[in-house]
Amino acid sequence: MASLFSGKSPGPATDTPLKDADSHLAVRVRALTKTFSIGRRGVDKLLALKAVDVDARSGEMLMIVGPSGCGKTTLLSIVAGTLSFDSGEINVFGHKLHQMSSSAVTAFRARSIGFIFQSFNLIPTLTCAENVSVPLLINGLGRQEAEKKAEEMLERVGLGGRGGERPNFLSGGQQQRVAIARALVHEPRLVICDEPTSALDSQTGATVMELLRTAARKPGRAVLIVTHDNRAYKYADRIVEMEDGKVQRVYEDARDIAGY
Ligand SMILES: Nc1ncnc2c1ncn2[C@@H]1O[C@H](COP(=O)(O)OP(=O)(O)OP(=O)(O)O)[C@@H](O)[C@H]1O
Ligand SMILES: [Mg+2]
Repeated sequence: MASLFSGKSPGPATDTPLKDADSHLAVRVRALTKTFSIGRRGVDKLLALKAVDVDARSGEMLMIVGPSGCGKTTLLSIVAGTLSFDSGEINVFGHKLHQMSSSAVTAFRARSIGFIFQSFNLIPTLTCAENVSVPLLINGLGRQEAEKKAEEMLERVGLGGRGGERPNFLSGGQQQRVAIARALVHEPRLVICDEPTSALDSQTGATVMELLRTAARKPGRAVLIVTHDNRAYKYADRIVEMEDGKVQRVYEDARDIAGY
């Protein structure tokens, strides 16, 4: 299978040469804290992340696991630049998100991050191919070329020929694959996935995990992935176990985690 991640990238994916001592790190999170206001009047506080430290190395697929409500989606959303945080440092390929304006974070995200949301977040009024084209259009590709690449990417996730349909007419697993295609199509440096295989059968899930692993295994790239599916553990380079808003343990060898 030809790699989609070889050859010329559509966007300026190498915009940030990393020169400091942490240049082997794709993502460096330090003392990250996040509080949500909850309750009817919003005065109660829920501490969702309690001084979290996480590193993802360049070229690695880092898996994040832990019970429901432990803060996995919150962590991913903050690293993706889609959720604010109280305090801490987030460094993504040398970009210090905690020091950047929100418009700079938005521009960086469009270029360099692909995000597969837990809820697929497809745009219902666009066709599948148009949904997948969005990151390419944002990065300045012409419409025709973008749709051609989108169709190719849809084929890679087993949805060849379905590009003209609207997402609502597809099954949950098919919609999830459209979301995966959209996250990968512009060959982002960092791919962030929240339960990317939850709606997929094991064969399709394996194909998607292989695609994601290919996306990770390049210097200057990485994949962060949250999963409840222990069949996915074998694709991880390392596994971070979270519990109650904290990192409980980091498995340097994925084979050491229970349920591998
Ligand atoms: N927008 C929000 N407003 C208030 N509380 C929130 C919000 N989002 C998340 N939380 C709370 O923060 C905590 C962490 O939520 P998060 O979604 O990160 O968990 P998770 O580990 O992803 O869980 P799951 O495995 O069920 O997806 C939970 O207690 C949740 O209720
Ligand atoms: Mg979640």
